[in-house]
Amino acid sequence: MIRVLLNDGLDKKAIANLAEKGFEAVNQHIADEDLGEALKDYDALVVRSATKVREDIIRKAKDGQRLKLIIRGGVGVDNIDVKTAIQLGIDVKNTPGASSAAVAELTLGHMFAVSRFIAASNVTMREGKWEKKKYKGIELSGKTLGLIGAGRIAKQVAIRVKALGMNVIYTDILGEKEDFKEYKYLPLNELLKEADFVSLHIPYDKTKGAVIGEEEISLMKDGAYLINCARGGVVDEEALLEALNTGKIAGAGIDVYKEEPSANLELIKHPNVSVTPHIGASTKEAQERIGAEVVSILEKYFK
Ligand code: 3PG
Repeated sequence: MIRVLLNDGLDKKAIANLAEKGFEAVNQHIADEDLGEALKDYDALVVRSATKVREDIIRKAKDGQRLKLIIRGGVGVDNIDVKTAIQLGIDVKNTPGASSAAVAELTLGHMFAVSRFIAASNVTMREGKWEKKKYKGIELSGKTLGLIGAGRIAKQVAIRVKALGMNVIYTDILGEKEDFKEYKYLPLNELLKEADFVSLHIPYDKTKGAVIGEEEISLMKDGAYLINCARGGVVDEEALLEALNTGKIAGAGIDVYKEEPSANLELIKHPNVSVTPHIGASTKEAQERIGAEVVSILEKYFK
């Protein structure tokens, strides 16, 4: 029987489906220090972002000669040492399209939250305050959104903000994209100068580090907004905090952090930020789609 370890859980229906299809799916979280040893008894490992599948874990697992596949139920594979896995003959797969709508909707949620002080006023009203005069926001309609990264999620954001009357510009490491031909392409530095809102939709590459740091922020319009529902490391949190304090950046919507859970309370508690705890893909629908895709990957792989 094919044994699959679900180390960060999986949608209920998908778990039932795996059992029906003859997989032995173990829905249990094994801590990092014991994971490599435990994986000697599994054919496949399924994770979200919580489990860090490091080199030492993969090497230890490989000693068991059983592990063949690691599946990231989600998009970003930055929590998996893909290079080592592939070198050792272990395949790595993800579910790239399943959560695009969920992340795009959260991105919009943060845009509304910061532009209309929804996040801030939720806090102050709960403290018994009525700060109506303080919360004069701006409209998204007529503003320019600069998308950094032109992949599946960015596309879903672009479609949605167009309906709000926003102008969309984009940049991408691969240059102009056919799929984005209705939007204006600009190199990053030019995009930063033109955008009222900047939203990142790129993976984290630790060899490159932050894509938005002090220098890039200095190019942004005074009073622009920054949204990050991609990965913590792509924005330099210190530079962002400084820009929020000076007012260079009027507001930031943040779902992802350099360290998670984040202890950067100065940033999290800043009155001009809207924060969520990495819940971009955490919708019922996205998790169902991810679960279904994981089942289908496992079926195809082991049939
Ligand atoms: C992803 O890369 O799919 C998202 O960041 C979601 O991560 P999660 O599965 O840990 O919620």
